[in-house]
Amino acid sequence: MQDIIRQLEEKRSAARLGGGERRIESQHAKSKLTARERLDLLLDEGSFEEWDMFVEHDCQDFGMQESRIPGDGVVTGFGQVNGRPIFVYSQDFTVFGGSLSAAHARKICKIMEQAMKVGVPVVGLNDSGGARIQEGVASLAGYADVFQRNVLASGVIPQISMIMGPCAGGAVYSPAMTDFIFMVKDSSYMFVTGPEVVKTVTNETVTAEELGGASTHTSKSGVADLAFENDVEALLQLREFLSFLPQNNREKAPTRETHDPVDRPDMSLDTLVPANPNKPYDIKELIHKITDEGEFFELQPDNAGNIVIGFARIEGETVGIVANQPMVLAGCLDIASSIKGGRFVRFCDAFNIPIVTLVDVPGFLPGTAQEYGGIIKHGAKLLYAYAEATVPKVTLITRKAYGGAYDVMASKHLRGDVNYAWPSAEIAVMGPKGAVEIIFRADKDDPEKLAEREAEYREKFANPFVAGKHGFIDDVIMPRNTRRRIARALRMLKTKKLENPWRKHGNIPL
Ligand code: HXC
Repeated sequence: MQDIIRQLEEKRSAARLGGGERRIESQHAKSKLTARERLDLLLDEGSFEEWDMFVEHDCQDFGMQESRIPGDGVVTGFGQVNGRPIFVYSQDFTVFGGSLSAAHARKICKIMEQAMKVGVPVVGLNDSGGARIQEGVASLAGYADVFQRNVLASGVIPQISMIMGPCAGGAVYSPAMTDFIFMVKDSSYMFVTGPEVVKTVTNETVTAEELGGASTHTSKSGVADLAFENDVEALLQLREFLSFLPQNNREKAPTRETHDPVDRPDMSLDTLVPANPNKPYDIKELIHKITDEGEFFELQPDNAGNIVIGFARIEGETVGIVANQPMVLAGCLDIASSIKGGRFVRFCDAFNIPIVTLVDVPGFLPGTAQEYGGIIKHGAKLLYAYAEATVPKVTLITRKAYGGAYDVMASKHLRGDVNYAWPSAEIAVMGPKGAVEIIFRADKDDPEKLAEREAEYREKFANPFVAGKHGFIDDVIMPRNTRRRIARALRMLKTKKLENPWRKHGNIPL
């Protein structure tokens, strides 16, 4: 017995030491924490239950039979974040570069399967050199096993990937199928093929950071949702982020007590929209003024800034906010913003999170770049996502709601539950200038007449009352009362029940 206990202790110590002191130092020298240090920061103190600490690889090639480290490069198990359980895996770069062996993959699959059974989120802390080269196809099979489970878990439990080191080759596809990807600045990167292959195939010279670093994926590609300064900030923010989410698709997100009165008026909102319809204003000001304590956990702030997405709370309950941003491209919809907004709406819908949509949209962005890039299909993603969503949908039109974009942005016609407008709302097929240039083309050489027509059009349509007459908006509200009115609508919608017709799955325009 004593002997077994001694062996147990030895194995535990070996597992805890991972790849050894030298490699731990090298990990620290790169400003990266070890797999276990990361878990200590992410999880509530003392809550971690480790699984499979004694798992070792079974590779017999390239001298690997002589080199076995308990745990095999990934620490897995469950623990709590803010008192709520999660399953987690944390890849250990000090053990064979965190590379994925068949055994390593089995450990990840095991916690994913258990997380599905008990309905709790899975968080992956990724830091890996990719497929364990010595294992060949066995490693590729392991990846595919993880991918398959990612897909089955999609829409059932939240899945979050934190990229904290390399993530290359096909390995990127597991994070890609999770709900959110976060990265750490300067120490993480993701690409399908690395700089050397890029040089050989396309003759482009590019660094790993330029090709797939955090700034690339949060601004150019839109692959990552956020980037953090360092491991510590990343893990603390991840704790905060998880507080907005439900544990699974059958539960509601937790409520957080608020001391922010729900009926507090905000006079400054009465003058948020400038008198000149072409002048921008910052929609984030409105968001901060209507949410509990002014808090807003924004996602993808540096990608497709013409749409703003993120989580906040109103009366203590999580809401997903989607807002056109007049400060960027006048808030119009384009390919990138439709993809960004569409995916977010689908996450909210899958996980019972009500959607608050703030509309100031002059239409879809015109141009060959957009048409050749397939705006028709990409714009349809946002439309499809809103039309499919059955969660409570509260919409507020602050200013422009023109054309197809009006329909798309959670309009009444797409089963918007409560649709409000501010008195400054203009709901029409297009802006007054564009409209008169088309319908009064005969007057095109008479600027005075055109101006008269424009004024007439503005008088008729640049207000919320035509839409109000048809019942397409439920009420025109005073800007100062927006928080109270949205909160009241959400409260009424708490018991909303709506189901889409049975089908295997829809065919969203991918
Ligand atoms: C086995 C690996 C490994 C791998 C790294 N190591 N990657 N061992 N399989 N894929 C080991 C190294 O041998 C080294 O061992 C230790 O990890 C640290 O690696 P270093 O190279 O010293 O670290 P660093 O200089 O920081 O470079 C990190 C790296 C580099 C950029 C990730 O290691 C690298 O390029 N590795 C190979 C990446 C790769 O091609 N992977 C396969 C991708 S294809 P010692 O003992 O010296 O400490 C793929 C397909 C997935 O993943 C497909 C899924 C469908």
